[in-house]
Amino acid sequence: PAGGPTMFGVPMKKISLVTLTFQNSALILILHYSRMMTPDGDHRYFASTAVFLNEVIKLAISLTFAIYEVSRTLAPQTPVSVIFEQIYNSVFSGDGWKLTIPAALYTFQNTLQYVALSNLDPVHYQILYQLKILTTAFFSVTMLGRSLGPKRWFSLVILTMGVSIVSLPTSTSQDASLLIHDFSDHFFPRSLHELGQLAGGVTEVARELTKRAATSAVEGLTKRSATYQGIKEDLDMAPVMNYSAGVTAVLIAALVSGLAGVYFEKVVKDSPTPVSVWTRNIQLSFYSLFPSLFFGVFMTDGEEIAKHGFFDGYNWVVWATILCQSVGGVLTSLCINYADNIAKNFATSISIVLSFLFSVLFFNFSVSLAFLVGTLMVIGATYLYSGPERKRGRPPPINIVN
Ligand code: C5P
Repeated sequence: PAGGPTMFGVPMKKISLVTLTFQNSALILILHYSRMMTPDGDHRYFASTAVFLNEVIKLAISLTFAIYEVSRTLAPQTPVSVIFEQIYNSVFSGDGWKLTIPAALYTFQNTLQYVALSNLDPVHYQILYQLKILTTAFFSVTMLGRSLGPKRWFSLVILTMGVSIVSLPTSTSQDASLLIHDFSDHFFPRSLHELGQLAGGVTEVARELTKRAATSAVEGLTKRSATYQGIKEDLDMAPVMNYSAGVTAVLIAALVSGLAGVYFEKVVKDSPTPVSVWTRNIQLSFYSLFPSLFFGVFMTDGEEIAKHGFFDGYNWVVWATILCQSVGGVLTSLCINYADNIAKNFATSISIVLSFLFSVLFFNFSVSLAFLVGTLMVIGATYLYSGPERKRGRPPPINIVN
């Protein structure tokens, strides 16, 4: 679509980046919760089934948007079969097969994230995963021919360090906490008040979730510890953390994140004819179904799934996590399509700062000096990166869809 698409008059580029910022914060909360709670069945849900269902749901979302998009271009009475035929042709013709590679990479990456989070605490995970900012920049330069001047490289390094520092565990520094409250009261009391009202609802839900997690964990423990068998089951179920496996997994995930994202961007933006982002998403999800089903569901967890069932350990929280991930995937694709991978990483970095800020304002978390420094670095890096380069690099390729 030429001329920069908009929704309600707002550029899609802006909408997708801002929405991803908020979605990412929500996902961090709910994913953490889904891993902490005691499962309803005798097992925690199988990661491979979640990775697979994530793609199924994303496929359904993309198909819905594709149907809407195609039907708008056709006469009102057009039969459904014609709409489907058009979608089918756009999905299975042209260079769509090229998405088999990012599909395999993303499936691998999504699986690695589960491996990493099963072996590492979220803090270490979050810090190490930020290396994806640099791997993404590296692949953007080498595969897409982007030129990043020294100022932008510098800002990306500052961003990576800033987000990592923000993610450090908070020490109890009451002074710094007071400082930020004072600061915010001083400079933007009104907007903060409004933001507070808005976030109040979200906070209530988060509190309730945490309470229920604690209650269900206690209930689960009481029930299970009643007999020796129960204790033995608990031991069997308790995940054995393997720190070096976790670190390896997250480092590879950061590398694959950059490669997969840039590969997807390359196929989308180097396309000889413009192809709708929904068609691209259908192609990506469709080709992801195979590796996630065969390598994940059958090969990795097949034996256990055969014993316990595909949906063992599922409840509404797990479903909500998967749904949130699917929506995140869709938003990511919009960011890559309308902006680029580097801008997408800025959005998620800011979301990490925001989710900590919410915790400070509404959960009475105290702020460490490190948090303030990290936040300033993220803001500074964003400002530095979005400013003009002093010397223009080579002009962007003409076929980039804006
Ligand atoms: O951490 P990162 O930004 O690399 O995560 C990207 C996520 O977005 C992955 O879970 C991937 O499956 C998803 N994605 C998607 N559709 C795209 C691009 C990415 O679902 N077109």
